[in-house]
Amino acid sequence: MTQQFDLNNFEDLCRLDSTGMMAALEGLSAQCSYAVCNILKDVELPNIEAISNIVVTGLGGSAIGGDLLRVYTADKIPVPVTVNRDYFLPKFVGPDTLVFAVSYSGNTEETLSAYEEARAGGASVMAITTGGKLAAMALRDGVPLAKIPTGCAPRAATGYLFIPTLGILQRLGLLPDLTGEINDMASYIKELHKKIGPESPREENVSKQVAHKLYKKIPVIWGTTGITEVVAQRWKGQINENAKAPAYWNVFPELNHNEIVGFEYPREILNNIHVIILRDERDHLRVQKRIEITKGIIGNVVDGFTEVWASGDGDLAKLFSLIYTGDYASLYLAALYGTDPGPVKTIDYLKLELAAE
Ligand code: PA5
Repeated sequence: MTQQFDLNNFEDLCRLDSTGMMAALEGLSAQCSYAVCNILKDVELPNIEAISNIVVTGLGGSAIGGDLLRVYTADKIPVPVTVNRDYFLPKFVGPDTLVFAVSYSGNTEETLSAYEEARAGGASVMAITTGGKLAAMALRDGVPLAKIPTGCAPRAATGYLFIPTLGILQRLGLLPDLTGEINDMASYIKELHKKIGPESPREENVSKQVAHKLYKKIPVIWGTTGITEVVAQRWKGQINENAKAPAYWNVFPELNHNEIVGFEYPREILNNIHVIILRDERDHLRVQKRIEITKGIIGNVVDGFTEVWASGDGDLAKLFSLIYTGDYASLYLAALYGTDPGPVKTIDYLKLELAAE
């Protein structure tokens, strides 16, 4: 029988954390501050005259920064940002495309393939990586390279992977100077750490409370098509990779047109679903109304639902407040399951099997 860990016991929390995921998360604020000042120093700008579209190509923990860029810039820049998680790039990629090839390890085969495609299609490419083959290819091709620090899991390097994309768009004149907003966000999550970090007791700690709600349940995470869409996806990925548990995500209003019909059978499984609804006070009023009606529809069917609200001032702080809360919740859930959050043996196994061919 699995022993349930005491989330109020710091030693219990860290006992199985062999790779320092908890410490890495505590360092997110410092990571963002470091990224805004240092990573792009001495990095050349991609050579592009007119940008019609932007593509971020990467997988897993290296792709989520692309989604953050997509939702953050959606109401700020006149060109679309597409996130590509494949070997191939969309057909529209050409000389007027800026492609960010992002891979923490620099060795993810899909990203390397998409990088080659971007080059072949005449796109302006920028590589963001700690090293590996991607860095070698960028150096070989004279492609601008943002080298980021090594030493953590890709999913714990969100600041390093995301902030440089903002910096490049700023230098290309697509975004204003964001140094102030990034530093404000970093200060905000440092404050938030006091409320949701490991030292804060469960009674006052939203992330610990969420982990208890999700323990031995099937997490279903719902965001909205504002900033919380990417956060729902992030929560799902973090629960998968850190807690080694399944999780599913969707967004309002789309889920009102299909997923919501699927809450009739099988009853005994539905009883074990716990729904997290990610809320942002700025959501469309009709979406807010949809959420209320939906709670009424599922209330008696699922185990329960928990609402988690974005906090802080400004888009970046709100985005990262929810990400930070979910990241901590996933680490606490890992502790409740008595599992080490760091290693992702299944991903490593897959990569090794693929490399063997
Ligand atoms: O979090 C992880 O370890 C994965 O999701 C990786 O990010 C993913 O496999 C891609 O690897 P990389 O980030 O090194 O390109």
